[in-house]
Amino acid sequence: MRVIDLIRHKRQGGEMTRAQINFLIEGYTSADIPDYQIAALLMAILWRGMTHSEIAALTDAMLRSGRTLDLSDLPSKKVDKHSTGGVGDKTSLIVAPIAAAGDLVVPMISGRGLGHTGGTLDKLESIPGFNVNLSLVDFRRILAKCGCAMIGATEEITPADKKIYALRDVTATVESPALICASIMSKKLAEGIDALVLDVKTGSGAFLKAEKEAVGLAELMVETGRRMGKRVVALISDMDQPLGRAAGNAMEVVESIEILDGGGPADLRELCLELSAWMFYLGERVPSVPEGKRLAADQIISGRAKEKFREIIRLQGGDEAVIDRPERLPKAQHTVDVTSPADGYVQATDCEKLGLACVALGAGRNTKEHAIDPAVGLVFQRKKGDAVRQGDALCTIHYNSPAHLDYARRLIAASFQITGEPAARQPLVRRVIGASGES
Ligand code: URA
Repeated sequence: MRVIDLIRHKRQGGEMTRAQINFLIEGYTSADIPDYQIAALLMAILWRGMTHSEIAALTDAMLRSGRTLDLSDLPSKKVDKHSTGGVGDKTSLIVAPIAAAGDLVVPMISGRGLGHTGGTLDKLESIPGFNVNLSLVDFRRILAKCGCAMIGATEEITPADKKIYALRDVTATVESPALICASIMSKKLAEGIDALVLDVKTGSGAFLKAEKEAVGLAELMVETGRRMGKRVVALISDMDQPLGRAAGNAMEVVESIEILDGGGPADLRELCLELSAWMFYLGERVPSVPEGKRLAADQIISGRAKEKFREIIRLQGGDEAVIDRPERLPKAQHTVDVTSPADGYVQATDCEKLGLACVALGAGRNTKEHAIDPAVGLVFQRKKGDAVRQGDALCTIHYNSPAHLDYARRLIAASFQITGEPAARQPLVRRVIGASGES
């Protein structure tokens, strides 16, 4: 088998066999196949797509590129949640402690920033000392002790995703439903979970912008999970504007702590309660989703979720004092506002541009080797539907280097659409896929 023939076959729209997919994934994981050939293959997949059997084979090959966890010795249900990626989406940092505080086990394997979106691992690493590269032994030990641990794909677990994910990030090959499905589901199926809640984003800040595409991806992932014997639902949620008020690694940790403290922006709190409710329901802690929501809210009101986050940070080597003193997190040296050019209402935001502005400031990567700046980011002063006067701040940029400031400013200014009419509000959760199989 020659890699070049397989690239050409896919480029021409052909279907790959399970054996060919195994050959490619094994060869790339062991470094026998170089980055440039896999980059070309990923681009061919992005253009040509994959059949359901190719996606199943790819997910399986990536899952088997490393070890899988058997957590059956832990008595509680193992439930995770994963997002397809958005701007300001820090829900993992909030729902994982809520679910663990409510007696679920959450073995979370997450990703880094991808394209214009942020990643849980980069956010967690903005907490001084926080180690997302735990060995499997430590991952298990922490799960057994506190019910939650958060790591990335490693040399041990889904190493194929670790390599492919980093390559997709810098080769404009993220936006492929097949690649997103295989990336997410291989990590999640390696975790030894009983159930999974997916947050599939739709709108201008999502990878798959049209709701129809997002629903297609959700159905694909729910089906892949079901075939592997897991209870899976997918919430289709709005990413036409950033979630919450902040985007940028350390700034999102601060906002997550605010939510765990009972404050924070209403949209972020609502989505976190909804996601946690489904986790409690699928994990059989409650007989209905509304009761799951009450249980989730209780974890915040009682302070248990915040204490759980503190414990996770401590056990993963981080500075737990950030919970009480978020000012210990990295902070950018300068701020500047982008202001409204006119009176009116925020009609729409091009959310992808806002994410790209964050990346330009240093919050994300342009090459695999790029080190990110944990302190920089954006605070959204106005959201969709808000009234503004000319000169009001729409967004505050937190930056360290002026190098790409003008570019970021232009992206942000171009992102906000101000009109004379108030914008119609969209529901945050548009629909739930896979729920019918659950009742
Ligand atoms: N999150 C992942 O883990 N993988 C993707 O491809 C997209 C979002």
